[in-house]
Amino acid sequence: MTSAFAHTPVLLSETIAALQPRSGGLYVDATLGGGGHAERVLELSSPNGVLLGVDADPAALKAARQRLAGFGDRLITVESYFDDLGAIAERTGFGKSDGILFDLGVSSPQLDTAERGFSFGTDAPLDMRMGPSADTSAAEVVNQWSQKQLERVFSDYGEERFARRIARAIVEQRRAGPIATTGQLSALIARARPRSREGIHPATRVFQALRIAVNGELDRLQRALPQAVEVLQSGGRLVVISFHSLEDRIVKRFMRDEARGCVCPPEVPVCVCGRTPRLRIISPRPIVATPDEVERNPRARSAKLRVAERL
Ligand SMILES: C[S@@+](CC[C@H](N)C(=O)[O-])C[C@H]1O[C@@H](n2cnc3c(N)ncnc32)[C@H](O)[C@@H]1O
Repeated sequence: MTSAFAHTPVLLSETIAALQPRSGGLYVDATLGGGGHAERVLELSSPNGVLLGVDADPAALKAARQRLAGFGDRLITVESYFDDLGAIAERTGFGKSDGILFDLGVSSPQLDTAERGFSFGTDAPLDMRMGPSADTSAAEVVNQWSQKQLERVFSDYGEERFARRIARAIVEQRRAGPIATTGQLSALIARARPRSREGIHPATRVFQALRIAVNGELDRLQRALPQAVEVLQSGGRLVVISFHSLEDRIVKRFMRDEARGCVCPPEVPVCVCGRTPRLRIISPRPIVATPDEVERNPRARSAKLRVAERL
């Protein structure tokens, strides 16, 4: 791994056990990142398995291409948000795949690169866009969204108990001039809310919420999952690692609905929707990291992995 892009893949052995890579298989990594999971998939699908790696972040793609250069044309990379997966698979002529992985959220290098504006620990412009094609930055959200919208974002996406107080403090501060940097915002939050009892930085939840809002993370996930099912061939595995309860809920409900098929309300005696099951759930409960992994990699603490198989 290059030191410039040090990201430890989460739930690596569990992900590989779920994807079951094999020679000649076709795999999609919808969140290629630094290529940690992808590397293992490519190794285990030697000598001729192919992996299509998608990421919105050109820096991540560059690092992954470097790391995985030895696999030659067994790796195809595309810079895009993953809610374009269906079109990407078609455009690249990638056949129906044997496994698709989503490892959601941001990577450690994204968080650690101050100028990306994801981190409250440094002072940098409020950006937080995963890829350059996104048109909204955190600065726009913080300085232009209404107090009500901000409160909603902090409360829904950050589960921040003091969402209202923080939103009010932001709107008051804006009157004196725009809030331009992560340092300004994080200092304002620290003044607006009491210290966290969980021992986390007071700005943690608001920064997470802003990142989710800026990148439309939940909407993109919701749009991508049905496309992933379309791209899978029968027996192919859909594997999703999420780090946020709202993401996990979207994945859980999606898999449950696709395993059930019919979405007619219970009072309708005969199915009129005509939908049939497309997935079989492999992990009825989410798979979580072992205490040993959490100790080695604290990011794994909130990871939940769900697996389903295309019928
Ligand atoms: C947790 S990291 C993946 C790490 C990777 N599995 C590894 O082992 O190195 C998540 C990656 O997904 C990308 N990402 C997150 N949401 C995305 C989206 N909606 N579309 C495309 N890429 C996305 C981020 O840019 C980041 O590089």
